[in-house]
Amino acid sequence: MQIKKYSPEYEEGWLRCRVLAYLHTSMYEDVVTSKPTFDARPSIELIAVENEEVIGILDMVLDTNELKTSLLGKGLGAFLQIIAVHPDHQSKGIGQQLYAEALKHLNDTQIEFIELYTRGDEQANQFYQKLGFEMALETYDVFGLEKGLRKNLVIEGIGDKKL
Ligand SMILES: CC(C)(COP(=O)(O)OP(=O)(O)OC[C@H]1O[C@@H](n2cnc3c(N)ncnc32)[C@H](O)[C@@H]1OP(=O)(O)O)[C@@H](O)C(=O)NCCC(=O)NCCS
Repeated sequence: MQIKKYSPEYEEGWLRCRVLAYLHTSMYEDVVTSKPTFDARPSIELIAVENEEVIGILDMVLDTNELKTSLLGKGLGAFLQIIAVHPDHQSKGIGQQLYAEALKHLNDTQIEFIELYTRGDEQANQFYQKLGFEMALETYDVFGLEKGLRKNLVIEGIGDKKL
């Protein structure tokens, strides 16, 4: 397995890896059909490749003094937009290696912190905790129904928190 910078000839493999990695997670419906680009903003785009197959992907976009993507921290941050490993290759250290490589690239920048957004999946949450992330903010997604189609709203675990 080799970690490389992303280049466009890997786009199809990148898309397949992403969709398969998300398949059995709460992000399963978040499908893209072309790789997001960052409009010439500074970014770190890495892939893990084995036998010419993309088995891991990482995209991180970096704040500049003019444009901030990070939401919570003060100063210049980076937003970890995606990290995903093909399901046949998960839990073998590839996610950690992709992240460690991204950190090396950050050494040459003024970035002071990293933010990310995730959902409730145990695997992803344990992974981020292992990397040292801490939960800064918890939100709830509320999905609406068409007018006239009434259904009770049940949200597990929300307790007495306000929406
Ligand atoms: C989350 C993900 C990126 C982690 O990559 P990975 O290569 O599978 O993880 P690693 O092998 O590097 O594991 C690092 C740590 O993550 C956690 N982890 C990995 N697999 C796990 C699993 N199946 N269950 C619980 N924790 C797990 C462990 O803490 C592990 O440390 P350990 O090996 O010392 O126990 C990958 O599993 C994945 O793509 N999952 C599905 C997509 C996803 O949820 N992406 C994030 C969306 S925001």
